[in-house]
Amino acid sequence: MKQASSEIPALHEMFRDAFKIGAAVSTGIISTQGSFIAKHYNSITAENEMKPVEVQPEEGSYTFDAADRIFEFAEAHGIGVRGHTLLWHNQTGDWMFRNAEGGPCSREELLARLQTHINTVVGRYRGRAYAWDVVNEAIEDKSDQYLRETRWLEMIGEDYLHQAFEMAHQADPDALLFYNDYNETDPVKSVKIHKLVRSLLDQNTPIHGIGMQGHWNIYGPSIEEIRNALKLYASLGLKIHITELDLSVFRHDDKRTDLKAPTAEMLKLQEERYAEIFALLLEFKDSIDSVTFWGVADDYTWLDGFPVRGRKNWPFLFDEQKQPKASFTRLAGLTATQS
Ligand code: GLA
Repeated sequence: MKQASSEIPALHEMFRDAFKIGAAVSTGIISTQGSFIAKHYNSITAENEMKPVEVQPEEGSYTFDAADRIFEFAEAHGIGVRGHTLLWHNQTGDWMFRNAEGGPCSREELLARLQTHINTVVGRYRGRAYAWDVVNEAIEDKSDQYLRETRWLEMIGEDYLHQAFEMAHQADPDALLFYNDYNETDPVKSVKIHKLVRSLLDQNTPIHGIGMQGHWNIYGPSIEEIRNALKLYASLGLKIHITELDLSVFRHDDKRTDLKAPTAEMLKLQEERYAEIFALLLEFKDSIDSVTFWGVADDYTWLDGFPVRGRKNWPFLFDEQKQPKASFTRLAGLTATQS
């Protein structure tokens, strides 16, 4: 039976003493699900609309309409905005890296373009985005390599990281600036992330936090792995944001595409996992001040197409009809016993 939405507690209210609760959105989603989002979330991130290729598809031609609408929606409802993202190896116009002849541009040219991009984007929303993911996914997954081999690294050198944070800080001195990555609980990768952020701090880089994406599933990573990563990052004295949380009901390599609904066992495991994960996040509430889901409800998730095409997924606290799942009710119980 459907519950009337007025009977359901607001998700962000449940965690008001600990951290903001966010969702990744698009302009389409805010126009059709605005009141639901405004009820449950007090932070939003543009799933795609603020990525480099979206806001500057060609040099000097900026397309801010979608991002503007996201800010207007947020401000009309008293919701904070996390800016995502300024420098990434994906979803970035190829023109950034090329000279007039189509060959690779110079280091100076690339730095100048980065500066213009960051100045324009961060400057436009100065005082309006409470945090920015300045650099996304710069660490290599393979255990024998440190930094990911991107054009940023090849063409500028390791200091591109420091430079990007400096540029963002100049464009908005009050925004919290984050390094964001996935597989951030992996024991080998987390040490590399820690090393990178430590070295930025040693250079007096204006970095204020680490974004843990949190693309996890109902089987892993283990609570111990998550705890160890949180401890390691918190030891740097920076803020931690969980930036892209979703709990896939499949193991990564599960190729089944025929499920029309999650099984009872999946939902039970998901409920247990959400409960233990949020209990852990609450333990770290002095370091964590924002937890964002990478979507709003199970009717839409990027995981419907990744990593297995055509495999529907159900990773959130609300089902396809936006009804609270058992996971939601469990979290409501968890926070009720805390206060
Ligand atoms: C990464 C990025 C996000 C998004 C997801 C997939 O985690 O940081 O912006 O593209 O992949 O949706």
